[in-house]
Amino acid sequence: MTDLIKKDIIELLKTIWSSDEIKFSDSERSNGLRNEILRNLIALSMSDDERANMLGLSVGCRIRESAKIISPSNLVCGEYVWIGENVMLDASGGLQIGSHTTIAVGALIWTHESALANLELDNSIGNPWIVRKSTKIGTGCYIGGPSSIYPGVTIGDKVIVLPMSVVTEDVPSNVMVGGSPAKIISEIDDDWLSRYKLQNGFV
Ligand SMILES: CC(C)(COP(=O)(O)OP(=O)(O)OC[C@H]1O[C@@H](n2cnc3c(N)ncnc32)[C@H](O)[C@@H]1OP(=O)(O)O)[C@@H](O)C(=O)NCCC(=O)NCCS
Repeated sequence: MTDLIKKDIIELLKTIWSSDEIKFSDSERSNGLRNEILRNLIALSMSDDERANMLGLSVGCRIRESAKIISPSNLVCGEYVWIGENVMLDASGGLQIGSHTTIAVGALIWTHESALANLELDNSIGNPWIVRKSTKIGTGCYIGGPSSIYPGVTIGDKVIVLPMSVVTEDVPSNVMVGGSPAKIISEIDDDWLSRYKLQNGFV
């Protein structure tokens, strides 16, 4: 029975593949995107460290399935960075992520804005209205998901962005921010760390 179902699936795939619904365009853009899509499909079968290695990320990095990097050649990523499922890393405007930082499940890190293309009624491929700004996330940060980091924002070192925050402005080092728009909730100093460790059973 299982073999019959497998055979049926293969026949169905062949029928779909040879149907007129499947159309490819031989443009540079489509072929480039296809290359990336196929690499991502293959990467689905990899473990998070294998995937990071294939993407050329630094030593110790891990990237979970279904995370997406736009313009990976513009990403400068430190070591031991963890990137969760459904994360969007838009590096099209230049993106830096420091070592030992976590970008948690579903976080959206942006380096471009496209609203002008909509307002100018020119949302075509290659339109001239895209604004790009580089975004920087420091070392030892925890970016809770699904938060959104706006283009052009610089986040310092050892920052916690609480889940579901929208970071619209630069954030200094050693603070916890939260909300929409994100505001500083507390400093992360030695007292904070001692209290948090004690609360959670670390001595
Ligand atoms: C943030 C964290 C390190 C704990 O720090 P903490 O100081 O104990 O945090 P608290 O829960 O006491 O919250 C501190 C303040 O932020 C507020 N806050 C908590 N979450 C918030 C959020 N998502 N947005 C806005 N404010 C938030 C709290 O209400 C509290 O405010 P108050 O001081 O006025 O009472 C810990 O809760 C954490 O890591 N959370 C994220 C969990 C997570 O995303 N896990 C996925 C792992 S990949």
